[in-house]
Formats: sequence, C-alpha cells, structure tokens
Amino acid sequence: MKKDMESILISEEEIKNKVKELGEILAEEYKDKNPLLVCVLKGGMPFMADLIKEMNIYLEIDFMDVSSYGSELVSSGEVKILKDLDTNVEGRHVVFVEDIIDTGGTLSYLKDLFKYRKAESVKIVTLLDKPSGRKKDIEADWIGFTIPDAFVVGYGLDYIENYRNLPFIGVLKPEIYK
Ligand code: PRP
Ligand code: MN
Ligand code: MG
Repeated sequence: MKKDMESILISEEEIKNKVKELGEILAEEYKDKNPLLVCVLKGGMPFMADLIKEMNIYLEIDFMDVSSYGSELVSSGEVKILKDLDTNVEGRHVVFVEDIIDTGGTLSYLKDLFKYRKAESVKIVTLLDKPSGRKKDIEADWIGFTIPDAFVVGYGLDYIENYRNLPFIGVLKPEIYK
C-alpha cells in the first residue's frame, strides 16, 4: 500500500480541510433547496461520505455506477450505466460528487442525461481536477485540488481496484503499473 507510493501529493490533513471548506460552501448554496447529492461510484464514495457530514442542511443522497475505464488505464470513451438512481430527478437540484475529472467523459455524459431527465439544476463537485487529461468540454462547479498529469491513487481513486482506502492522495511508483 503505502510502500507503493512514489510520493504523497495531497495529505490527509489537506483533504480534511478542503472537504470541510467545500461542505460549508455547498451547504450555504443549497440550504433551502433539498439537493440530491449523487455519488458516482466507486471513486466518489469516500469524498461523498465525508462531504455530507460537513453539510448541516436538509439533503438527500443517491448513487450511480457508470463505467468508462474498466480496468484499462486509457479511457475507451464509452460510458455504460451499471447502476442507475433510485430517485426521480425531475425538478430536483442535483450535485454530482466525484473523486476526479480526467477526460470529462463520465460527467459530460451524466450531465446531459440529467438535463434530459429534467433536473432543475445539475452541478458538479470534484475533489480532483486533472485538466491535462480533458477530451470533453466540461468543468466542475467546485474543485478541491487541480492536479498535474500523474498517476494518482487513494481516497477513492484506484489502480485495478486497489488503494481506494488510502486516506491521502498518492502518486503510484511507475514500476507498479508498468
Ligand atoms: C474514474 C473516476 C471518475 C472517472 C474520471 O472512475 O472515479 O469517475 O474515472 O474519468 P473521466 O473524466 O475520464 O471520465 P472509473 O470509471 O475508473 O470507475 P471507479 O470510480 O469505479 O474507479
Ligand atoms: Mn469513478
Ligand atoms: Mg477507476
């Protein structure tokens, strides 16, 4: 686990502070809107769990699982719904909660889908943004950290399904994925 890291990019402490800050901003923005926070599985799970605890307002949560990468390192450009919401989003204020935006494929697909489903508003909060990877014209409304083009894992982000449970964001040693 930790021994597979080349470096720690964002510490546990930095993540905690940022999640608190984002939670407070979102709570203010959505205090009278009973928003639906949609966690994009699996990577968004740790961020979602911590974020909602920093929001002292009425809100609802739901989960979607989509796949774009599979176990590949490079995005196929395809998005497949593996698990859909249980909630009808018509008229709702939706906030997608993601661990990272890379190519933008996942969220541009989901944003379009939710507009089609007549959500009242659709916004995005992401812990990490990797602008160098972008292939779709999409930006998050709230970003925790903008990161360079490195292979990062931890706090939800995986490499072949491992490392999601690290409490920090680390850079994987190249020999692990080569
Ligand atoms: C990763 C990540 C984002 C998405 C970002 O998820 O958690 O959801 O890719 O990439 P994109 O901007 O290029 O679409 P992944 O599909 O690997 O599933 P996971 O969350 O289960 O790891
Ligand atoms: Mn994901
Ligand atoms: Mg993944």
